[in-house]
Amino acid sequence: MKITVIGSGYVGLVTAACFADLGNQVLCAKKTSKNLDKLNQGISHIYEPGLDEILKRCLDKGTIEFTNDIKRAIDFSDLIFICVGTPQSETGKADLSQVEDVARQIAENMTDYKLIVEKSTVPVNTHQWVKKTVQRYSNGNIQFDVASNPEFLREGTGVYDFNNPDRIVVGVESENAHKIFQELYRPFTEKGDVLLITTPAAAELIKHASNSFLAMKISYINMVAELCEKVGIDVNMIADGIGYDQRIGRSFLNAGIGYGGSCFPKDVRAFIKIAEDHGLDFGLLRETEKINSQMRERFLEKVENVLWINKDKNITIWGLAFKPDTDDIREAPSIDIVRKLYETDANLRLYDPQAGENFQNLFPENENIRYCSDKYEALKDSDALLLITEWDEFKNADLNKVKNLMRLPIIIDGRNMFESEVMEGFEYYSVGRENTNQSEKP
Ligand code: UGA
Repeated sequence: MKITVIGSGYVGLVTAACFADLGNQVLCAKKTSKNLDKLNQGISHIYEPGLDEILKRCLDKGTIEFTNDIKRAIDFSDLIFICVGTPQSETGKADLSQVEDVARQIAENMTDYKLIVEKSTVPVNTHQWVKKTVQRYSNGNIQFDVASNPEFLREGTGVYDFNNPDRIVVGVESENAHKIFQELYRPFTEKGDVLLITTPAAAELIKHASNSFLAMKISYINMVAELCEKVGIDVNMIADGIGYDQRIGRSFLNAGIGYGGSCFPKDVRAFIKIAEDHGLDFGLLRETEKINSQMRERFLEKVENVLWINKDKNITIWGLAFKPDTDDIREAPSIDIVRKLYETDANLRLYDPQAGENFQNLFPENENIRYCSDKYEALKDSDALLLITEWDEFKNADLNKVKNLMRLPIIIDGRNMFESEVMEGFEYYSVGRENTNQSEKP
């Protein structure tokens, strides 16, 4: 099938590349010419495992192309995916100006039938506005449908998630749109994947309800972790114990420093706002948010309890991305942690396998913030190592080398990366678990 994808961020790029890899003919449009040449050579501007290989493969086969000519992209196919950003506005609501802009451009440029699909995360009933916008700005005689097909891709595993969906959700209003999606997703339904056909409003709501539920699960286990720490029980044991119950499930029950990223924080806030707009107080989600921000504060308290005075201490931070296998730092816990520690005049040595460059745009190097290109280099004469993102590279670190490089063998782990038993010789603090070799507070 011929497919147009508008937007080349994490969602647009993965969607375009994976559809092309399935043999569809894809034209992916972006607003500016920035990174266009690179994309057309198969080099993506974001770090997503496996993506560059797919891009190169599809470019070789001629199944994908990138353009900043929006008119050409709209002419290219009947099936247009909107994958632009829906960032948070000042009020907490989603800022839908990019979605509106694309809808207007489609309306002004379309000459024949279009199926316009929202893939970006949008508040319930946004499809009505998209429809109205297209009606207003088009000449009125051209047929079109608006549908919702939310994405459930996690950054870092986006390609895997696209090809192995738990379910595909499609909200349609016409028989024609229904048929197009059945054809598009046939490779998935043929291998037994679930294609849930519903209304556009329900599909929009499923996305917000899904992300908010997962965020709630994380805050729940983080609160249980607080209790576990007080009573000396390992939170992982509790997560396993409740996770074996299939009604609960073990995933998204990893306690830690709280969720970040471009989705959960923004989507939880937007969902609270959506409820508010309909006269409902979604207290459960307000508490979810509160617990999430408390986790960062608790982590900083732990650092202070362990180090007493941060001023002039060498503190190493491993992990800046909001999660492993991405270079994305949006709403990453590391931002609050670094900002607060910087205010205490600590000497910070930062290392992340992919996100260092993005982080430097927020916190440029200075005499108290130094970026290291190697995780061990960042540890020389360190008074404490803080673990913020659970990259495999850290889990597989040579702990003897770590100990020998540090001035004091203190590790404060925000992601429960190690089992306490292997931390012999370290003062090791983690989340929701008894801390080993913990020094007595004077
Ligand atoms: C999330 C959803 O998982 C995707 O299904 C959805 O498509 C995406 O948002 C989106 O709306 O675009 P993402 O934010 O990329 O994906 O990454 P997750 O793996 O969900 O992690 C989100 C945050 O939760 C990370 O900061 C992670 O460290 C944290 N987390 C996750 C935990 O603290 N504990 C866990 O057990 C799981």
